[in-house]
Amino acid sequence: MIKVLILNGPNLQRLGTREPEVYGFETFEDLKNACLEFGKTQDFDIDFRQTDDEATIIKWLHEAADQKIPVVINPAAFTHYSYAMRDAAAMHTAPLIEVHISNPQAREEFRHFSVLAGVADGAIAGFGIDSYRLALTALKKLVKL
Ligand code: DQA
Repeated sequence: MIKVLILNGPNLQRLGTREPEVYGFETFEDLKNACLEFGKTQDFDIDFRQTDDEATIIKWLHEAADQKIPVVINPAAFTHYSYAMRDAAAMHTAPLIEVHISNPQAREEFRHFSVLAGVADGAIAGFGIDSYRLALTALKKLVKL
């Protein structure tokens, strides 16, 4: 089993009740279970985390870099402005994939730019919670390289 960190940024723990017309009705618990279950089929031992705190997400990215752990990250609103998070992600020593539930490109202008995109191996957005499964499928290929 390969250890994988799935990191989630602010407000994502409120999935299910948060703007369901944008993010769907599945809860954060549903998302976690879907990732853990799919992860098993990919031979991934998933550590699934969420924080509203920028410093915490940076600390987790350092941990991943130090231990060469692949990362799937939905930075939520940090995507659009956290240069500190981007700098932490830039140090990655294993594949790192950006993921979004909605399609930020089809939404408000401030969501069109991702500070993370330039240092991630790739990004998947717009497929609801399936975005995470697609990201894990892509990750599976990257870790085999
Ligand atoms: C999001 C998109 C971001 O623009 C937003 O701030 C989020 C969630 C997504 O998964 O679609 O909180 O990352």
